[in-house]
Amino acid sequence: MSNQMSAPLGNQESNKVETSDGHLHQAELVRYQSLALAKFSEVAENMRSPRSGSNTPRLGHTYFDPHPMVTEAWECLRKSVVKFKGHMVGTIAALDQASDALNYNQVFVRDFVPSALAFLMNDETEIVKNFLLKTLHFQASEKRIDCFTLAQGVMPASFKVLYNPTRGCDVLVADFGETAIGRVAPVDSGFWWIFLLRAYTKATGDYSLSQMPECQTGIKMILSLCLAEGFDTFPTLLCADGCCMIDRRMGIYGYPIEIQALFVMALRCAHQLLRVEGDGKEFIKLIDNRLSALIYHMRSYYWLDFKQLNNIYRFKTEEYSNTAVNKFNVIPESIPHWIFDFMPMKGGYLIGNVSPARMDFRWFALGNCMAILCSLTTDEQSVAIMDLIEERWQDLVGEMPMKAMYPALDTHEWRIVTGCDPKNTHWSYHNGGSWPVLLWLLTAACVKTGRPQIARRALELAECRLAKDGWPEYYDGKDGNYIGKQSRKMQTWSIAGYLVAKMLLEDPSHLGMMALEEDKNMKPMLTRATTMPTKLHPYY
Ligand code: GLC
Repeated sequence: MSNQMSAPLGNQESNKVETSDGHLHQAELVRYQSLALAKFSEVAENMRSPRSGSNTPRLGHTYFDPHPMVTEAWECLRKSVVKFKGHMVGTIAALDQASDALNYNQVFVRDFVPSALAFLMNDETEIVKNFLLKTLHFQASEKRIDCFTLAQGVMPASFKVLYNPTRGCDVLVADFGETAIGRVAPVDSGFWWIFLLRAYTKATGDYSLSQMPECQTGIKMILSLCLAEGFDTFPTLLCADGCCMIDRRMGIYGYPIEIQALFVMALRCAHQLLRVEGDGKEFIKLIDNRLSALIYHMRSYYWLDFKQLNNIYRFKTEEYSNTAVNKFNVIPESIPHWIFDFMPMKGGYLIGNVSPARMDFRWFALGNCMAILCSLTTDEQSVAIMDLIEERWQDLVGEMPMKAMYPALDTHEWRIVTGCDPKNTHWSYHNGGSWPVLLWLLTAACVKTGRPQIARRALELAECRLAKDGWPEYYDGKDGNYIGKQSRKMQTWSIAGYLVAKMLLEDPSHLGMMALEEDKNMKPMLTRATTMPTKLHPYY
């Protein structure tokens, strides 16, 4: 790779590639993307992203004049670090002294992801390695909810350090959903764990961690859970409500986009990390089979744009046989009215859920950004998602980037779908609330699609308020301008999400640790996957 390809794209340089209306010229767009994607091509030979030396924070480099919020954010992030026996093992969810801690005094797996990325970008890798090993250790332990034993592969939602008076020392205690609201196991944790293991490997070039037999077994145990055969007729993963970032009842049960996109990301990362030996080979084959069917299914049936909406609007029902156009028997009368106004002529997105006679047309930010990052969407679809964000900026971003989900449920729908949840009221929390943590995902999607101007616009909004408001967990309201009703302050992933977005925009080569280029060699295979390897019994 030439030096020019691997040089970081600084602030001044990235400004130069924009036209007066903030868009990139085609040739410049290609150059920007190749800078951002340059690191992908190294994956095959060497996953390390070589970078310049480590100042703390790295944003102190001369090509970049750090925003005062950056220094504050680093200070806050460091204060949130949790130590166990003298070693840094993660970051606490929120350091808000004013509110009841509830479960915010724990290290959540999903919450630690942006913290980990910020540390990796800053060449502080030890905390990430310790976190990966500690959570792996929990996975191996026996977990029970009442008298039911959970599957071996399940990763914890969170863990905390507790003083054990009998032993006279600190111990780590994990939660697999048994103390969480709704008692749901976190399906996303295992996927985030694989994602982070790859990010660590890519950022450090240290293969020794992912190649450890314990880590290889950890990956296989997660895969065994989600690749196990059952009664499925779809390649998507069937999930309970509340099994991811949206961890309370919000009507996402079934095949939620939030999990399907992470599933694709985890499968693709596992593919890179697995050793091609023993049953590793069989897992790789299973991943290949599942991925091609899954990506085909998602691109075909979850994709919605103006044209597809019009097709669904005109769907015929009661079609039997394999020539059916309306495969899931979606009744056009079930299309919600809001979608006709919301859908722009330019743009599209992956809808929230697809199952028999049910399409959840809601927009989910994490799933759509993640779909871009793992190339679940085609290049055209990725561009269309960014177009939609621009076209529907006020709805999806408003005053604070960005809404986890759109639109909010109200009145009867809210009662039925959320079970009258007082935290998830109209335009609050998961129900149309705005989550600053999503800035990192939005920025990464912008960088990958060559649309940094969108991320810059979002960052400017965040910089007006986030620090002044005390780094809230979420904002409320249709425009996202009220600090959330029950929002924690000093929420670590709001802080880390901002830092990751900021660093990524300054040096797009960081994208390599959190995104994957499309695998052009993958053939769409529509046949059923081969059966699970017989040797895998210990894992499931
Ligand atoms: C809330 C969020 C969840 C997050 C947790 C800790 O429960 O819904 O996604 O992991 O807080 O911040």
